[in-house]
Amino acid sequence: MKTKTVLLLLLTCSPLVSTAANVVEERLQTYKTAGAKNFSAAAGQSLWNRQFEQPDGSKARACSSCHTTDLRQAGKQINTGKLIEAMSPAINPQRLTDAEKIEKWFGRNCKWTMGRECTAQEKGDFLKFIQSQ
Ligand code: HEC
Repeated sequence: MKTKTVLLLLLTCSPLVSTAANVVEERLQTYKTAGAKNFSAAAGQSLWNRQFEQPDGSKARACSSCHTTDLRQAGKQINTGKLIEAMSPAINPQRLTDAEKIEKWFGRNCKWTMGRECTAQEKGDFLKFIQSQ
């Protein structure tokens, strides 16, 4: 094969950088394989802001407790006060560019906030919402 053809193939077939757009697309496909249906930013937003009562009677928790309701603003770890950079990929281009990081934090944050793992559907809705901000 000619060098030019090989280069062209490489360029068209492989995402050269992990952008939020292609990482999210790949995650959504994976969640669909796991049984999720169409994803909704509105459903993601409503879940993001929902207050989850805690079984031990401590203060109710939401994703927005740390990340705030405005994803274009920085948030704050409510336990330690540590700054959390804005979640919106439009403001913070590092966001949603690393599938492993996304899954690691879904794991921790869903359990801490909701007391359980998030479903594939919920994760997809969250990603759609975050991406849209
Ligand atoms: C107790 C505070 C806290 C709560 C509540 C919380 N998070 Fe987070 N979240 C963090 C911290 C800390 C990080 C990692 C630091 C960073 O990336 O800036 C993070 C990172 C993330 C990331 C990784 C984003 C990326 O690509 O960089 C996602 C996705 C996320 N959180 C989603 C959620 C969702 C969904 C909820 C609600 C179910 C939630 N978080 C609730 C503190 C929290």
